[in-house]
Amino acid sequence: MGKFYITTPIYYPSDNLHIGHAYTTVVADALARYHRLLGDEVFFLTGTDEHGQKIQRRAAAVGKDPQTFVDEIVANIKSLWKLLKISNDDFIRTTEPRHTKRVQQIFQRLYDRGDIYKSEYEGLYCTPCEAFWLERQLVDGKCPDCGREVEKVREESYFFRLSKYADRLMAYIEAHPEFIQPVSRKNEMINNFLRPGLEDLCISRTTFSWGIPVPFDPKHVVYVWLDALTNYITALGYPDETGEGSLFARFWPAELHLVGKEIVRFHTIIWPIILMALDLPLPKQVFGHGWLVLDGGKMSKSKGNVVDPVVLVEKYGLAAIRYYLLREVPFGSDGVYSEEALVLRINTDLANDLGNLLHRTLSMVEKFNGGVVPAPGANGPLEEALRAEAGRTCQAVQEHMAQLEVSDALAAIFQLIGRANKYIDEAAPWSLNKSGNRERLETVLYTMVETIRISAVLLTPYLVETPARIFNQLGLDTDPAAQGLEAAGKWGLYPAGTRVRKGEPLFPRIDWEKETAEGTPEAGGVKAAPATAEKKPEKTASPKKEEITIDEFARIDLRVAKVLAAEKIEGADKLLRLQVRIGHEERQIVAGIAKYYQPQDLVGKEIVVVANLKPVKLRGVLSQGMILAAGDGETLAVIRPEKEVGDGAQVR
Ligand code: MSP
Repeated sequence: MGKFYITTPIYYPSDNLHIGHAYTTVVADALARYHRLLGDEVFFLTGTDEHGQKIQRRAAAVGKDPQTFVDEIVANIKSLWKLLKISNDDFIRTTEPRHTKRVQQIFQRLYDRGDIYKSEYEGLYCTPCEAFWLERQLVDGKCPDCGREVEKVREESYFFRLSKYADRLMAYIEAHPEFIQPVSRKNEMINNFLRPGLEDLCISRTTFSWGIPVPFDPKHVVYVWLDALTNYITALGYPDETGEGSLFARFWPAELHLVGKEIVRFHTIIWPIILMALDLPLPKQVFGHGWLVLDGGKMSKSKGNVVDPVVLVEKYGLAAIRYYLLREVPFGSDGVYSEEALVLRINTDLANDLGNLLHRTLSMVEKFNGGVVPAPGANGPLEEALRAEAGRTCQAVQEHMAQLEVSDALAAIFQLIGRANKYIDEAAPWSLNKSGNRERLETVLYTMVETIRISAVLLTPYLVETPARIFNQLGLDTDPAAQGLEAAGKWGLYPAGTRVRKGEPLFPRIDWEKETAEGTPEAGGVKAAPATAEKKPEKTASPKKEEITIDEFARIDLRVAKVLAAEKIEGADKLLRLQVRIGHEERQIVAGIAKYYQPQDLVGKEIVVVANLKPVKLRGVLSQGMILAAGDGETLAVIRPEKEVGDGAQVR
């Protein structure tokens, strides 16, 4: 048993957070919960980075003072973490007095030690990234991180002597290969930043005011990255509460700073040098994970293509979202987010494998043994093999989690679940029941239940609530997380003689076709124009799409069609079946517009359809095209030519 101090980056409350931010925090949460399961003493910190020019500008743009502006967003961030069952031990806001006073003390300390001096800064600044750049570092004249315009700034500033510590940092990184992970990020830091040489860093600004005043020169505010990075120690009480038993004494240095790849530079160059200058030990590891991107590229509020985790949790439930985020993308690499892949994960792993294992096991316990889990007899080779597999799984989970291979750890647990399903098929309890082989039947039933207990304990860091639901159905009133990892490794802890409480299926299967047919106005044979980011900022799940050429557009055969007949489809309350004519051809099109139109409203009207769309079946009804409509989910308008042009006419 040891200690484990883990941090997430502190988020800019410049807007509500999206699924990409949730990704970092959910992974950190799974790691924190895993270490608690191991028996480690854990401190898990997250928070918000509230100062700086970007926030000041965003607040001004909406006519609010910065504090009121961030207070509202921070409240949303906190409720998002609650929704996602994030188990952080503290939440630090950089506008809190406990932080601001400590940043001033740290600034003073660095100044007193001679590592800060006053000069003039003339150079380039990227406000969205809050980063200084040199001309030679730009890519096509733009910020190398975000690709946006940089601004020329010239102002009196305090500087921090980064250059003085460059050799020491290089030696440290070389002597501690585990410090920057994955290795590719370490090489990037060495080649792109350390080798070319470090310049001293500008650490105060005078051209705006939303920041922590420099204690001895209050017309300067502290550079937001110095302010932000120090949260990892100010939250623990540094520098004024560091005595024996303090959080700082117990938890610093951190075992792990989890950060996105674009901010590895701040955490592995500026941050360690600040710590060196303060004579403090360095964190054991900075891990730079990849991004969750959409098909069209990086997710960002400014592009208007973000996915809102709140909407997803409402739609699919917490366990599904956490599972998807933790399982889908190997940690470290970029991953493409897609709702279809999320539904596939729910259906295959959660519903088919895990949900089904529990359901069939409990059904058999009810059917063959009156709902009570029997004591096992002697194990046969099948049981021994499954038991060995369970032992190997515990081992594999530990090995993977030590390497932050969260997705692999989950894959190992689901391999055990798959193996348990196979075991049922092989052991065939129904035949044992039929032939009256009671002893074997009892052994098999117990083995099924015990494998589920072990899987549930192993799943607690990731799925959080599902394992407790599983325990409840197994008739257990204990908390699976409280059993600890050791209990997962021990076979036979499930108390025989317990009555099970079979409940609802854990994960109902999702009908993706139905979902896309009826879920949003974008589907179901209707193409809706995306809602604009300004209009519905909280639900901008419709991404802006990537640029296409005129030739690509020309591949879509848009035609004017005349509606000949329309009717509701029985059993599908969102769908209408339209009979349309496109020139000489008659077609049937199914459209998800029944909520917005009565069938007779459309008859005789000219509308616009995609005529060369591959036919599909929606609710079993053939649809040979798609009609165009625009709307935001609340209203929907079918697109019609402004005057009659005759069906069959091309839309260009
Ligand atoms: N405030 C700074 C961090 C200061 S830490 C001392 C910051 N904030 S941020 O809100 O812009 O980003 C916070 C984290 O979210 C970063 O690690 C970033 O990589 C991560 N992500 C933002 N978008 C993301 C995805 N689309 N995918 C994965 N991670 C994402 O930077």
